[in-house]
Amino acid sequence: KNDYLTDSFGRFHNYLRISLTERCNLRCKYSLGKYCMPADGVTLTHKSKLLTSDEVIRLANLFVRQGVRKIRLTGGEPTLRKDLVDIVRAISALDGKPKVSMTTNGVTLSRVLPELYHAGLSSINISLDSLRPERYGQITRTIVKNNVSGGNPPRGIWSRVMDGVDLALHLGFNPVKINCVVMRNFNDDELVDFVRLTENRPGLEVRFIEFMPFGGNGWGDGKKLVPYSEMLKVLKERWPTLFRVPGDKSDTAKVFHIPEIGGNIGFITSMTEHFCGGCNRLRITADGNLKVCLFGNAEVSLRDAIRANVSEEDLLLTIQAAVRLKKKQHAGNYAAHKEEILDCHTKEKQFSVS
Ligand code: GTP
Ligand code: 5AD
Repeated sequence: KNDYLTDSFGRFHNYLRISLTERCNLRCKYSLGKYCMPADGVTLTHKSKLLTSDEVIRLANLFVRQGVRKIRLTGGEPTLRKDLVDIVRAISALDGKPKVSMTTNGVTLSRVLPELYHAGLSSINISLDSLRPERYGQITRTIVKNNVSGGNPPRGIWSRVMDGVDLALHLGFNPVKINCVVMRNFNDDELVDFVRLTENRPGLEVRFIEFMPFGGNGWGDGKKLVPYSEMLKVLKERWPTLFRVPGDKSDTAKVFHIPEIGGNIGFITSMTEHFCGGCNRLRITADGNLKVCLFGNAEVSLRDAIRANVSEEDLLLTIQAAVRLKKKQHAGNYAAHKEEILDCHTKEKQFSVS
């Protein structure tokens, strides 16, 4: 048992991420560069080729029986999927009782969170790259509308996300994490504000993420990358009591705590200190492909396999073959970015002198 999910480096994969849709209700961009999903020119997979809820649940069950303990639902934006609550309910009730989690942009949370909580969702990660409503409006390309009724400053969609964060804490999701991708000259002046957000929110963890290169997302030779060492330095200067909280080797984030502040602070250092050695993740795309690495494109269709009624043993062998081909780090592409990563440290030195 368990052998199907162990790769050639001895990494056992007990964490599965399932994308429920390619669609998103935001089109985040950074300056002129693309950042996440472009506004146009995206070809979405035809609905008939997406996994149905039954197929999602069946695959989840298969992986849980092989030892998967945690399932994260992602997208696109997973809350756009109409059968999300049913999927959460079914997966969290599987034998083996996996922990079910979700990564969302938070825009629709006030509407769906209570139901998701009761269906068994246990924790939630919310993407929020700026605490300034105007900036948030810029990166998410949402129009910031004036609040005509109360005379408050324009807050727009941003306030819906913030309300979602507080509702999640109030309902008892644990933990509630905010994901903030730090981009040079865009939001790198907000680190302290993000930390302060956790001041009266002990259940909140804010995670600062190093910008990663994904197909055509404006990586631009790493110019946006703000290295972990630099972020840590800024926060240590502000809060010298900051200390590291021990974690698991499979954690994406290095977690810190500041005694005088409520919540935790994490750093996801995929670029300057990758954590591939402890990787325990597999992914299934919305159209049913198994992806063994975030940075890789090699995919094998589990959807085609189940629609062709292959036996469970054959399905497991297909999965095993893909897992065994998993590369040591960054799908074998880490070396390609070495120079740029070094270069971002050079920028850090210039930054700290000026
Ligand atoms: P937790 O289960 O709460 O630790 O969440 P997570 O960090 O695994 O997932 P989330 O969806 O919140 O993603 C946060 C950041 O981690 C994003 O920038 C992801 O791209 C990145 N991330 C997620 N999985 C991986 C991975 O396997 N490798 C690397 N390098 N980064 C990852
Ligand atoms: N680098 C790092 N993280 C990214 N995300 C989206 N694009 C990037 C990138 N280029 C984050 C989102 C979300 C998480 C799933 O991935 O902000 O929080």
